[in-house]
Amino acid sequence: MTACKMAMGRLVACVVLYSSLGHIPSSLGVILRTTDKTVWANEFEPIELTCLIESISTNNPRIEWKKIKNGVPSYVYFQNKISGDLLHRAQLREPANILIFNATRSDTAEYRCEVAAINDQRDFDEILISLAVRVKPVVPRCSVPDAVTVGTSSELRCLENEGFPASQYRWFHDNEELPQDPKTTPKFINSSYTINTDTGSLKFRRVKKEDAGEYYCQAKNDAGHAQCPPQKMEVYDVDIVGILLKSFGGLLAFICVTAGMCHTIKRGCSPSKNLSENTYKRPAQDDGVEYGDADEGHFRHKSSFVI
Ligand SMILES: *[C@@H]1O[C@H](CO)[C@@H](O)[C@H](O)[C@H]1NC(C)=O
Ligand SMILES: *[C@@H]1O[C@H](CO)[C@@H](O)[C@H](O)[C@H]1NC(C)=O
Repeated sequence: MTACKMAMGRLVACVVLYSSLGHIPSSLGVILRTTDKTVWANEFEPIELTCLIESISTNNPRIEWKKIKNGVPSYVYFQNKISGDLLHRAQLREPANILIFNATRSDTAEYRCEVAAINDQRDFDEILISLAVRVKPVVPRCSVPDAVTVGTSSELRCLENEGFPASQYRWFHDNEELPQDPKTTPKFINSSYTINTDTGSLKFRRVKKEDAGEYYCQAKNDAGHAQCPPQKMEVYDVDIVGILLKSFGGLLAFICVTAGMCHTIKRGCSPSKNLSENTYKRPAQDDGVEYGDADEGHFRHKSSFVI
C-alpha cells in the first residue's frame, strides 16, 4: 500500500513535471471500484451502493447514477440531486455512494454509477451494481382436507407469492416438522408422503390412520418466515359392513317407498275405476247370482231328486 502510494506520488510528480512542460495534460484517468457488484438488501432496511473512486485528478467530477430496470434506464442521481424513483428516499455519500434509507421491493434493479472527470486523460468510468431486495414471505394459503379415507391418496397445499427470493416450504404434523423423507424418522417411517419444498405440496400416496392430526405449513426465505394456522385432517376407516348396511338400508327404503307409492296409486285409481266397473259388472254379477241361484235350485232340485 505504502509502496503503491509512493509509486503514485512519483507518478504524480512526473505528471506535474510533464504538465509543467506543457506536453501531456493531466494524467491517470478516473477509475471506479465497488465493494460489491451484487448486493442483497432486506426490505424496509437501509442499503448503501458503493461507488469508490480509485483515482482521479479532476476536482469536481460529474457524478450520475442510473437505475436500469427491465432494460430501461432512468436517472436516480442527476445534476447533483437525487431524482426519479429514489427522490426523498436516498442521499449521495462521499465519494459517490448512494444510500437508500428504506429499501423497497421495487428497488430491485441494476444501478450504474457514472463518473465523468473532464480534466483526466481517461475522462470517464462506470460500474454496474445489481441490487436485489429480499421480501419476507406473507402468511401462506394452506389447504388441508377435513377428512380422508384410509388408503386413498391426498394432497395438502401451501403457497404464498410475496416472498423474494421465492419461499421454501416445510410442513408440520401435530407441531412436529415432517422430515423430507419419512423413511429417515421412526415416527413417520410408515407414512407414504412426499414433500415438494419448492411448490409447498404435501402428498400422501396412501393415507394411514396415523396421518390424522393437525397440519400447518411454514413459508421461509432469507428475509423471514410465515406460517398458516393449523388445520385438522381426520382419517376414516373403510367401513365395508357400514357401507353395505347403508346401501342395503337405502335399497330397502327405496323398495318401501316404491311399494307404498304403487299402493297409493292403485288405491287412488280404483275408486273411479270401480265405479264404472261396478256399474258394468253388476248385471254380470247379478247374472252370476241368478245363475248360481239357478244352479243351486237345479242342484237342490237334483239333490232332492237324488234324495
Ligand atoms: C419503510 O417504509 C415502510 C413502507 O413504506 C414503512 O412502513 C416503514 O416504517 C419504513 N421503515 C423505516 C425504518 O423508515
Ligand atoms: C410401522 O409398521 C410396522 C409394521 O406394520 C409396525 O410394526 C410399526 O409399529 C409401525 N410403526 C409406527 C411408528 O407406526
